Amino acid sequence: MRRLVAEARLHPDQLVLPYFVRVGRKSAVSSMPGVFQLSVDDLLKEAERAHASGLRAVLLFGIPDQKDEKASGAYAENGIVQKAVCELKRALPELVVITDVCLCEYMSHGHCGIVEKKSGKARILNDPTLELLARTARSHAEAGADIVAPSDMMDGRVRAIRQQLDENGFADTPIMSYAAKFASAFYGPFREAAESTPKFGDRRSYQMDNANAAEALREVGLDIQEGADIIMVKPALAYLDIIYRVKSTFGYPTAAYAVSAEYSMIKAAAAKGWIDERNVTLESLLAMRRAGADIIITYAAKEVIRWLKEG
Ligand code: PBG
Repeated sequence: MRRLVAEARLHPDQLVLPYFVRVGRKSAVSSMPGVFQLSVDDLLKEAERAHASGLRAVLLFGIPDQKDEKASGAYAENGIVQKAVCELKRALPELVVITDVCLCEYMSHGHCGIVEKKSGKARILNDPTLELLARTARSHAEAGADIVAPSDMMDGRVRAIRQQLDENGFADTPIMSYAAKFASAFYGPFREAAESTPKFGDRRSYQMDNANAAEALREVGLDIQEGADIIMVKPALAYLDIIYRVKSTFGYPTAAYAVSAEYSMIKAAAAKGWIDERNVTLESLLAMRRAGADIIITYAAKEVIRWLKEG
């Protein structure tokens, strides 16, 4: 009877699994048990298995061989993400391949934009960064990406990406923008996985302040005006109020990103026998659905699909 009257539900169709892809051999991410940096070959094997079990969509992050001050690896024609997308779409044409569009993994300094250093002070150059982001998104679309997902939080990037996609024959490629992305301590484990910890400073000049909800709505509104098709709130569990407001204000397809520390905290406490991994994970993700998220990005997607099947 409870199931008859349940208001929110989790379903495999709503889940997106992030993958980290690199050149060279598979390597475990120590702060995220069960998560690996994968070679393109390993990624194909993993994704094939996950897809066969009911996973519909993946989100790709790349770890390049070399980093520089222009993030050249982000938009290189034969870059790691471009290769991975190409192979994935060839092997699994029905799998939805989303690419994270950002520069931090490809920048020697680890920031999401171009850095200018003047008299001992560093700052991010917003506008010159837009061109690199748009090139990155276009190169992902050329490789076959189904959706591009800018996560950099530069102002005006959705418009720049939309324009470049439209001008190059990719008018039908949707943008899922990390619209309300907070400067969060919950990204800690991810930065080990993506090798993207900033070498100096932090991301507070471009990511949002934890205290602000009205500002999050303004950020989302701007991204929608600029052409975003799906909007994202990130992190998820500590920002359920934002998910709720965003969904009720705009009614847009809304994604919630259950970020790395949300995953790692559950894994760590479960490994100690302090909590039940399955029930805590399912309860957390269901809360995101109840708050209004349509799409949930989670490192636990494979296990969740298995648990949902087991009932
Ligand atoms: C890149 C990016 C980050 C995450 C997704 N894209 C990290 C950051 O902004 O430092 C975090 C994801 C996670 O913690 O799982 N800009």
